[in-house]
Amino acid sequence: MAFKERVFSGVQPTGNLHLGNYLGAITKFVALQESHECIYCVVDMHAITVWQDPAELTRNTREVTAAFLASGIDPKKQIIFNQSQVAEHAELAWVFNCVARLGWLNRMTQFKEKAGKDRENASVGLYAYPNLMAADILVYRATHVPVGEDQKQHLELARDIAQKFNNDFSESIKAHGFGDAFFPQPEPLIQGPATRVMSLRDGTKKMSKSDASDNSRINLTDDADAIAQKIRKAKTDPHPLPNDVKELDQRPEADNLVGIYAALKETTKAEVLLEFGGAQFSTFKNALVDLAVAKLGPIGAEMKKLVGDPAYIDSILADGSVRAKAIASETMSAVKDIVGFVRR
Ligand code: TRP
Repeated sequence: MAFKERVFSGVQPTGNLHLGNYLGAITKFVALQESHECIYCVVDMHAITVWQDPAELTRNTREVTAAFLASGIDPKKQIIFNQSQVAEHAELAWVFNCVARLGWLNRMTQFKEKAGKDRENASVGLYAYPNLMAADILVYRATHVPVGEDQKQHLELARDIAQKFNNDFSESIKAHGFGDAFFPQPEPLIQGPATRVMSLRDGTKKMSKSDASDNSRINLTDDADAIAQKIRKAKTDPHPLPNDVKELDQRPEADNLVGIYAALKETTKAEVLLEFGGAQFSTFKNALVDLAVAKLGPIGAEMKKLVGDPAYIDSILADGSVRAKAIASETMSAVKDIVGFVRR
């Protein structure tokens, strides 16, 4: 059976959005609107797998929504909403809790990393998190999922769950007229080059909201002065920029700054080195400041404006939730029939 092409992705509202989120995820979301029907979800239920301050969770949910809007995602053509407003995510996640095997979840490297040594004290939600993620995607029977490297294993699990559901219930799926498979196998959309944005203080570490140093990242809401200051302070090495991209392999900080420039300019690192090969970092950083301020300044300003109008943001999320729910409830009704739940 052919499934309608549909994109789904989620972003957790758990802290300041930064350049890594923007170049790694949000710009891809924006581009996919041209070719696909897209559903973008602020996954507040995933966020609480680790304790969140309630007021901050609310603020962060609105901030991620503002970032989607300010970056150019069209909330009328696409769907933007927050997960907790569509109860079908949790409902399908329960069914998937009963489809996925303990052994599968035990292999998830992100749980091992996040739970750390104190595994006994991690929430059950953190452990079952990938099942909810599978439900997010499959409740829309989405076919394509833009995700970063760190989420590929979770997406594979979603594929395994879809397949096991299709197998376990194959007779019932057929009997209810859904053909051979009810759920598609969602595919990762792997991002282009230079999307791994590293810390400005250490080119070997990912840019992260949890880094103690705010100078390690460019937040989407940083103003022009902050952007300029952070780039000027960014760690470099003592050599001029190379002419050959291959030489960047041994120079993580240079590689990162060239990569950021290329991504913001929507070009390649080789092109950037054609222009800046042989230049000193001071010269290159000036150009990077100008480019970053030109690209990110307006987004940050728009985000601030939007966040200042929570009623507007909430109306976008409410509208998106209603439209999301229309799709999700249809899937859930079918799932109930397939599983054998009596329903109205
Ligand atoms: N787990 C993802 C992350 O932390 C967020 C997420 C939740 C997601 N549900 C999703 C991403 C569904 C893609 C599809 O980045």
